[in-house]
Amino acid sequence: MQREKFSSRLGFLLISAGCAVGLGNVWRFPYITGQYGGAAFVLIYLFFLVILGLPIMIMEFAVGRASQKSAARSFEQLEPKGSKWHWYKYLSIAGNYLLMMFYTTIGGWMLIYFYKMVTGVFENRTPQQIEMTFGELMGQPIVMTIAMLLVVIIGLVVCSFGLQKGIERVNKVMMCSLFVIMLILVIRAVTLDGAIEGLKFYLLPDFSKIAENGLGNVIFAAMGQAFFTLSLGIGALAIFGSYISKDRSLTGESINILVLDTLVAIIAGLIIFPSCFAFDINPGEGPKLVFITLPNIFNQMSGGRIWGTLFFIFMTFAALTTIIAVFENIISFFMDLKGWSRKKAILINGIAIIILSLPCVLGYNLLSGIHPLGGQSTILDLEDFLVSNNILPIGSLIYLLFCVSRYGWGFDNFIKETDSGKGIKFPKWTKVYLTYLLPVIILVIFVQGYLSKFIFSGG
Ligand code: ALA
Repeated sequence: MQREKFSSRLGFLLISAGCAVGLGNVWRFPYITGQYGGAAFVLIYLFFLVILGLPIMIMEFAVGRASQKSAARSFEQLEPKGSKWHWYKYLSIAGNYLLMMFYTTIGGWMLIYFYKMVTGVFENRTPQQIEMTFGELMGQPIVMTIAMLLVVIIGLVVCSFGLQKGIERVNKVMMCSLFVIMLILVIRAVTLDGAIEGLKFYLLPDFSKIAENGLGNVIFAAMGQAFFTLSLGIGALAIFGSYISKDRSLTGESINILVLDTLVAIIAGLIIFPSCFAFDINPGEGPKLVFITLPNIFNQMSGGRIWGTLFFIFMTFAALTTIIAVFENIISFFMDLKGWSRKKAILINGIAIIILSLPCVLGYNLLSGIHPLGGQSTILDLEDFLVSNNILPIGSLIYLLFCVSRYGWGFDNFIKETDSGKGIKFPKWTKVYLTYLLPVIILVIFVQGYLSKFIFSGG
């Protein structure tokens, strides 16, 4: 059967950007930036996005486009005979599954908060009551399960219509709405009284903040964020490479996607920081920022219910575009691997994803006695750790080595694929860097992930 292709270039760009744009941009990026001191962190992050994220994104697209397969079969299509690169498929599918096992829960929280905003639940509540609302939600496994189910079902239904009629059509609408809502919110935020202090915190680098947090920690957080925000290393972008033709060079397309992803992250910060400063609320609150700090801010704004509703639609769309993209990767993985029909792959994986998402939901209530990483850690923390600190860097390393090593696909094949089509060509002079330095950087991130988790944290 002929492999389905995107109906337009815009479709490809928006879907890949949608896969990248997610909770990582609108939730993780602002709170990490808040914790690590603002603009100086943003600069370091942008640096790693370019030297680390971009080449690996291009490599994923190249492997996908050259093989015309999902991660289930792409390596076996391109690897030298007798080699074992294709074992990567197990890591890839594990990564996609693990990412979804907690992402569907957080997507559900976004949906619940959207509902609470629309129905005015937060109106006239004190900051303490708003804080308690989040705590109460964590103690309601049934509500959280229903929200998670809704998110999964929406994702599966979209995928059931196929690439063009389902994913491309729906994600295009969601991404375009996301940009419009984002622009409305940013105008509101930067015109609040007192917003200027937030803008300064966010946009003027203060390198003393780096010293305060420790340069190593800041660099590590920036690199981790670069992997996470682009969904690198699990073949989630590679799949979209397999749905495009050779009209355009992959470097140019990847730069476009990177710019879109970065714009969303930066603008999410432009919404959040001025609002925090305008209402005198600490932006370094960590993960609670979105569910406790922001509802409080909206509560104090005039018309806050409308702004809050728009904000949570924005967050829900960001989560859903990633979920749909990763679901598509999982579904096509099994279609390639087992020869299943789309329907069968959706049904079986749908059931599996729902069951596997339950531990994360229950980790906040029925299973809250389980602290897999010590301290007060939750099941979500474990899943996030396995994906973000293990599978993303290792998977990225595998793509990288496969594309530069003569024991893999090799640099020449990679360049030939990447440079096919109109647009910017891949800078070949980076070969030494890609072959010898970048793998070391990735390994360091990996080791550092363990050290900071188990040794320096005391957890
Ligand atoms: N790239 C996805 C995000 O940023 C995983 O949320």
